[in-house]
Amino acid sequence: MKRVASLLLLASLGFCAEQIDPATGMKIAEGWETVRDNCTVCHSAKMYTMTTGTRQDWITAIKWMQETQGLWEFDPETEKTILDYLSKEYAPKNTSRRRPLLTSDLLPPK
Ligand code: HEC
Repeated sequence: MKRVASLLLLASLGFCAEQIDPATGMKIAEGWETVRDNCTVCHSAKMYTMTTGTRQDWITAIKWMQETQGLWEFDPETEKTILDYLSKEYAPKNTSRRRPLLTSDLLPPK
């Protein structure tokens, strides 16, 4: 009985822990393969796994690549999958409504 319980615990831990794809470093979550297939063609996945952004930030980045870097247009469903993945898995860390503290270069001179 005890053994079953610890097996269940291990299984649920495995399920909760963040899974990372070793080849790309991407978080394995819903839609990640679609993002991998479309977003690792011209540059490594690091271009977006090292950064975070709101849905609007991701839309802006994708529009910019479409307008200037030869990124193809997506059908609405693919675009939604990509944006859902990025805006959920690589969301800004500070989700508080309070703005982050100002850095010294933004403060008035002493
Ligand atoms: C057709 C080629 C191409 C594809 C496909 C592509 N990108 Fe890019 N992307 C670029 C180029 C070129 C740059 C600029 C690279 C540099 O600055 O060195 C770039 C830069 C970026 C940047 C950095 C933008 C910035 O503001 O500095 C992000 C984030 C990014 N890509 C994410 C993605 C995502 C997400 C996808 C999939 C939807 C994707 N890319 C697919 C060509 C592409």
